[in-house]
Amino acid sequence: MERVLADAAATARAGEVLGRVASPGDVIALVGDLGAGKTTLVQGLARGLGVTSAWVSSPTFTIINEHPGRLPLVHVDLYRLESARELGEIGITEVLGRDDAVVAVEWWTRLAECGVRAPDHLEVVLEELPGPDGGRRLTLRPVGVRPAALAAAWLAMI
Ligand SMILES: Nc1ncnc2c1ncn2[C@@H]1O[C@H](COP(=O)(O)OP(=O)(O)OP(=O)(O)O)[C@@H](O)[C@H]1O
Ligand SMILES: [Mg+2]
Repeated sequence: MERVLADAAATARAGEVLGRVASPGDVIALVGDLGAGKTTLVQGLARGLGVTSAWVSSPTFTIINEHPGRLPLVHVDLYRLESARELGEIGITEVLGRDDAVVAVEWWTRLAECGVRAPDHLEVVLEELPGPDGGRRLTLRPVGVRPAALAAAWLAMI
């Protein structure tokens, strides 16, 4: 389940399409190196979810930001996570279990490193393509029945 995203606009557009096919309770697990395009995809996702609030950026100190929309977007960025204890403080298990919102998590792999059990989710891997043209490879790895259906619906539209 792969696509090539030629430029940043394509990443944002793909995110927007995901937002249109997503349902409450969906968990989007973003995996990719520094600068892979995770936040760009989440910005598109916000648009697709009808989020009207200000600019969706990487949460800086807060780790977690919530944006009201047609469907609310909960944006978690674990890059600056300092300890597993912090995950307990933000109530990560409850956040991942939100059935009224779409939850997008940057640096998803930190959860497993901290011993947090992952619910069903759609893993979205972004990788920089070699060569001068940039671009990113998008790979989907759904875990669970609903995420598999979401991945299929999304891919059919991008
Ligand atoms: N498909 C693409 N092709 C080329 N450049 C892209 C693509 N998608 C996003 N970018 C660019 O990559 C850069 C990094 O994007 P972004 O901030 O979204 O990455 P990130 O994975 O969130 O990074 P971080 O790990 O720092 O949070 C931005 O300049 C963005 O415009
Ligand atoms: Mg980011």
